[in-house]
This record gives sequence, structure tokens and C-alpha cells, in this order.
Amino acid sequence: MHFFEYKNGDLCCEDVPITTIVEATETPVYIYSHKTLERHFIVFDDAFKGIPHLTCYSCKANSNIAILRTIGRLGGGADIVSGGELYRALYAHIPGKKIVFSGVGKTEKEIKSAIESDILMINVESEDEMTSVAKVARRMRKKVPLSIRVNPQIDPKTHPYITTGLKKNKFGVLWDDAYRLYKQIGKDQHLQPIGISSHIGSQILELAPFIDAVKSLKEMVLQLKSDGISLKYIDIGGGLGITYKDELPPHPEDYAKVIERELKGTGITLILEPGRVLVGNSGIFITKLLYVKKTQGKTFYIVDGAMNDLVRPALYGAYHDIIPVKEKSDKEITVDVVGPICESGDFLAKDRDLPILEPGVLLAVLGAGAYGFSMSSNYNSRKRVTEVLVKGKEFFVIRKRETLRDLIKGESIPSFLEV
Ligand code: LLP
Repeated sequence: MHFFEYKNGDLCCEDVPITTIVEATETPVYIYSHKTLERHFIVFDDAFKGIPHLTCYSCKANSNIAILRTIGRLGGGADIVSGGELYRALYAHIPGKKIVFSGVGKTEKEIKSAIESDILMINVESEDEMTSVAKVARRMRKKVPLSIRVNPQIDPKTHPYITTGLKKNKFGVLWDDAYRLYKQIGKDQHLQPIGISSHIGSQILELAPFIDAVKSLKEMVLQLKSDGISLKYIDIGGGLGITYKDELPPHPEDYAKVIERELKGTGITLILEPGRVLVGNSGIFITKLLYVKKTQGKTFYIVDGAMNDLVRPALYGAYHDIIPVKEKSDKEITVDVVGPICESGDFLAKDRDLPILEPGVLLAVLGAGAYGFSMSSNYNSRKRVTEVLVKGKEFFVIRKRETLRDLIKGESIPSFLEV
């Protein structure tokens, strides 16, 4: 459920017409609905109320500080994967004790900042990384809470680029190695084993892979317990899918039910790292139709938004619904919606049935709240776009469009090239 709908033929975000926002910000622009985000968080988090848990929003999906603050105010924590995300999460007042640090390549600097911030746990992904954490912890004379990210070798049946729990993937540690590492951790006075984690993939549309993952994590916890290593947390990562077109993802309540069934009464605290399911349908991307170009047998709608702004169609062949901001339901023409970037891969939609539209109209690309702005770049020296958060009748610019000056920030011409 989301709060983007037509009111008297005008697409609105909550109570604000999109055209009102565009008058103030121009295009392209990302627009997020606070009410949708809040609702998604509450529905997700409440679904797990039967067991001790902490919902650590996966910042990579959308790391704008206003989004992080919204989650933080609702009691959520953060799943981070870099020093940059740690900085953002703390800036948004998410307490260190609600932050978990995932990722295969944490640098010593990042590990040090995480320890200084007294985060809940570092999810280590290799023996080498564990050695680094131990080294930094020793230097800082701290005892660091750790979890090992295991690779449970489960096929989540999603896009190969966003599958992470298979043997061939770079993520996590196979169980036999993890078992050996836990025994090692136990002997190191600067490391404290407190959890076990996994993340099997993203945009998962079935419950079975999650059930398999949580079952195997539980089994590992029990085996460790019998060896005298007792863990407090099971972190099952993120991955719950959403509807972009006609997918039927499990409802968070059903997802919670099957996980709860495995963990109830175990004394384990569950950690969740949802990203897409919280923000995906809380955001849209607005772009303006610049030109209609007809070639032999093909029509292109050339818009001012491009793959640098929203890369998912180009990178994964992802489908995002596109609708006109002024309601027009007759889909009379098949078009490619393409951006101005000099790449054939620069498209937002291919062979899409859309109404016949004139240059100047606004189009809304739906389901753009997750992995939209956060994956955007300056390719072709395009300014990263404005982000707006709507709350009821009001809207707030939560990130200004970059300026030309921003594009060259940090660059310099060495003296031997000076004019
Ligand atoms: N935890 C870990 C360790 C992760 O690597 C991820 C996502 C998540 C949680 C959150 O997963 P979610 O609930 O959002 O599925 N850019 C791709 C998605 C990449 C996901 C990477 N990891 C896309 O646009 O589809």
C-alpha cells in the first residue's frame, strides 16, 4: 500500500500534487511519501512483535538522512556497509547500539570508527577480516561484539546479480569455516562472539528460502551452544521482495510467522535488515518528456531522467511502472523511454505501452524509492537530482539538486597546466 494516487486527474503524493513540487524543484526529482515509509516500517516491525527483535534498515537502499531519521524515530536501527553509511546513520541519531555492520571488505579505518561508535555488532565475512577486527580491537583495548556471516548456500531464485547466498558468491563463510572461526573468536580476549548472520539475496518472492536460511542458522546456533559458545543474535539479513509489476511477494506478516515459528522460545533475538520492502514503494521518480522521436518502426520518448539517476532498468533489466502525472489511461503506443545519456543501455523502459504524449508532460516512474537515488551517479556530468519528502499537505526538499560547481568539487588543475 502506498500514498501515490490520482486526485481529480492529477497524480499526488499524499495531499500534494506532483505538479506543485515540480514547479518548485524542476525535473528530474525523486519524491518520497513519509506516510508510506512510516506505514511500511510499522507493518514490518509489528509483524515480529511476538519475538525479541530489532529491525535494522538497510541504509544502502536509500540513505538520505531524512529517510534514516524517519526510521530512527520509529525505533529502527541500521544495517550499514561502509564508514559513509555509519556516518549517515549516526548523523540521523540512530544509536550505535542499533547498528550492525555488514559487507565483505571493511577497511581498518572503518572498523575503528565502528568500534568507536560502540555498534551492536560487526558481521565479519572472512577469516582475514576477522583478523583485522582483532588487530584493531587489540590496539584500542576493546572487546568487540562479532557475528560471522555464513553462506547457507540457498538459492533465493532471484536475479543473479542480487543473489548472495550461493556457493559461487563472494559473501559470507561456509559453515565448516565459520564453525572453526567461532572457536577461534572464543579464545581471543578482544573478540566476543554474539551473533550469526546471513543475507541470501534481494527481491525474494517466496518464503521457502527464508525458512531454509533461518532453520540452518538455528541449527548452527544449537551446535555452537553444545560446544559452549552461546550466541544472542540471529541476523537473517534483508531480501523480502515488493511488487514492481505483477509480483506477489509474501506479506510481512506471513514472512514473520514462518520465522517466528523457528525462533520462538529459543531466547534468541532476531535481527532483520530490510531495505527494499520499506522504501521501494515509498518513492517515485519524476521526469519530463523532452522529445518524441520516431524512427522506422520505433518510437522513443526521450526524457530528462537517465540511467545515472535510476540505473535499475539498465543494470538489471528491471521493470518500473511509468505513468503520466496528468491522468491519461489509454495506452495507444509502444515506446522505449530513454534518457539523454550516450549509451544504448540508457533506458527507463523498453517496448512499453503508454498513452500518446506531447513533449513537456511529466512522467512518474514508480517503485523508485529503493536503489534509486542511492545508486545514482554523475555520469555524463549530470547533476544528481533533487529529493523531496512529502508529509501530508507539506513537502520538504531533503536534498538539493547539485550545482555545476558541485560537479567539479574536489577537482583541481595542476600548476603545470594552468592558463
Ligand atoms: N543486508 C545485506 C547484507 C545486504 O547486502 C542487503 C542488500 C540488504 C540487507 C537489503 O536487502 P533488501 O531488503 O533491500 O532486499 N541494487 C539491487 C539490490 C542490491 C541488494 C544488495 N544487498 C537492486 O536495485 O535491486
